[in-house]
Amino acid sequence: MGKIKALPPEVVSKIAAGEVVERPASVVKELTENALDAGSKNIRIEVQAGGRKLIRVIDDGEGMTPEDALLALQRYSTSKIEKEEDLFAIHTFGFRGEALSSIAAVSKMKMVTRKEGELAGVEIKIEGGLIQGPEATGCPLGTSVQVRDLFYNIPARLKFLKTQGTELSHIGEVIAKIALANSQTHFQLYHDGKLLANYPVRQDLSSRLAEALGQEAGENMYFFQSRSKEIEVEGYAGEPGLNRPNARGIYLFVNRRPVRDRLLSHAVMEAYRNLLPKDRYPVVVLFVNLPPSEVDVNVHPSKWEVKFADSEAVYRRVVSSVREVLERTPWLQKGRGKFPELKEIPGVYMKTDLEKPYHFKPQEAIQFASPPSGLKPTPQAPFLGQVDKTYLLFESFDGLILIDQHAAHERVLLERILEEFSAGSIQGQPLLFPEMIELSFPEAKATEEHLLELGKMGFEVEPCGDRTFWVKSVPQILSAREPIRTLKEMIQQISSWGKNIDLQSSFDSLLQMMACRGAIQASQPMSPEEAKELLAELQKCSFPSRCPHGRPTLLKITLSELEKMFGRK
Ligand SMILES: Nc1ncnc2c1ncn2[C@@H]1O[C@H](COP(=O)(O)OP(=O)(O)OP(=O)(O)O)[C@@H](O)[C@H]1O
Ligand SMILES: [Mg+2]
Repeated sequence: MGKIKALPPEVVSKIAAGEVVERPASVVKELTENALDAGSKNIRIEVQAGGRKLIRVIDDGEGMTPEDALLALQRYSTSKIEKEEDLFAIHTFGFRGEALSSIAAVSKMKMVTRKEGELAGVEIKIEGGLIQGPEATGCPLGTSVQVRDLFYNIPARLKFLKTQGTELSHIGEVIAKIALANSQTHFQLYHDGKLLANYPVRQDLSSRLAEALGQEAGENMYFFQSRSKEIEVEGYAGEPGLNRPNARGIYLFVNRRPVRDRLLSHAVMEAYRNLLPKDRYPVVVLFVNLPPSEVDVNVHPSKWEVKFADSEAVYRRVVSSVREVLERTPWLQKGRGKFPELKEIPGVYMKTDLEKPYHFKPQEAIQFASPPSGLKPTPQAPFLGQVDKTYLLFESFDGLILIDQHAAHERVLLERILEEFSAGSIQGQPLLFPEMIELSFPEAKATEEHLLELGKMGFEVEPCGDRTFWVKSVPQILSAREPIRTLKEMIQQISSWGKNIDLQSSFDSLLQMMACRGAIQASQPMSPEEAKELLAELQKCSFPSRCPHGRPTLLKITLSELEKMFGRK
């Protein structure tokens, strides 16, 4: 008895069918997912000329009988679902019975397969809709699907393909994603006969990280995991210093399926809010697992999109799990799930591109990163002095702590501001003598439209004529630091907001600006009391180790590092 059946018409009509073959990488994805669905342990992907000339996926999965091999090429024939209800309980990557037939329609395909128990395998060729075979052939267990001359019969599509290098990088990316989600399978990607990527079987996810994302990322990511009733969220969050210029470092999976999902990306970005430089994106690998009934994967033919039954719950769970691990990053042991319970001043802050004079290798840092109670930190940590009127030096339990006074104070102020802002409004301080400001027309208009928000941010502003306004109070944290100048800068920024701005990040950047202006600057003397106070305040922060733009606020040199540097060991 074969496993593949034609889907009844009423199910076909429920399937988000359509074009799935956009480029060589789409073929690679479909064939590799088929191989995974067949229970393969080893999957070899060979491509030539960026996939244009040849794509071959060889697996050691369950294989097909000759009848199944023929049926597999028919549109809407699948072994993965049978009836409509099955669409709500999908546990395989494929389910539409469409991929092979669509690929066969735009290429010259050859399939060789043998099922366990069968003496011989079969070979089927299909080109321009014409099937040749099946012919008996000797072959190992499993299936190999070969796709030659993709789009040979659709010149328009061929024209849209990018350079070999680009197409190849898409293929590499797809395999990296699939490999991240399937660490129990061995993947090998060959290009023009050369091994390009190798993913041996791994017992856990963390070992795949460096293989898929590169060494630096692999060493600077932190494990997180949490679950509420039905939603399980786990993965690795890159430390903020790993940021990238685009979102391609954010890898999202739903039930092991790689997806592109705005809700999830947004949740990840929300978790990194105020931790990254402007327009930068984190590196994150996120797995969301939930019962198949809670997520619809039948949204788009390419299966890149999903719909959650309870998207709000998913969003909240993702934000809170990623945020929680970030709050603890400096204390975490990289790549491990364990972390100390205490929220204390970071034992160490490590990043590969830390400026000199002290540079350690990240591997060394790992051992110091974790001792939960290693560093008893502390407001009482003796203050040793200020370096270049910019850095504060403290002696800690097991070494030295260096603080960038501006970055640290910025972090402290930002957290205070955010708290006040979300609770209602930032504390203002009335000016003894209200000050009059004159603005350009667009600025005046923007100010009138945002009086309320300015008020929430601690600026009480009142129109008093064409383009003039009274400023009656200013935020307390700015009162001693040229508040009017900051106000004007903020108004300039507001007047440049377009129609489709992201309000939240726009306000974030205003609040960041306030924190920056309100914070003590570099090159300013600080008394020991002020320095100690700053350390104490920093310690209370949720994200003590980073300024709002993603720069480090503090770093640490342990005694053993000192010993090493002085050659005492
Ligand atoms: N590598 C393979 N090993 C074993 N069986 C396979 C393999 N590739 C395809 N098949 C069989 O062929 C059928 C059709 O494959 P096809 O990819 O066209 O559809 P699908 O995987 O069921 O759904 P989708 O169109 O969503 O991918 C599958 O249901 C499966 O039974
Ligand atoms: Mg398939």
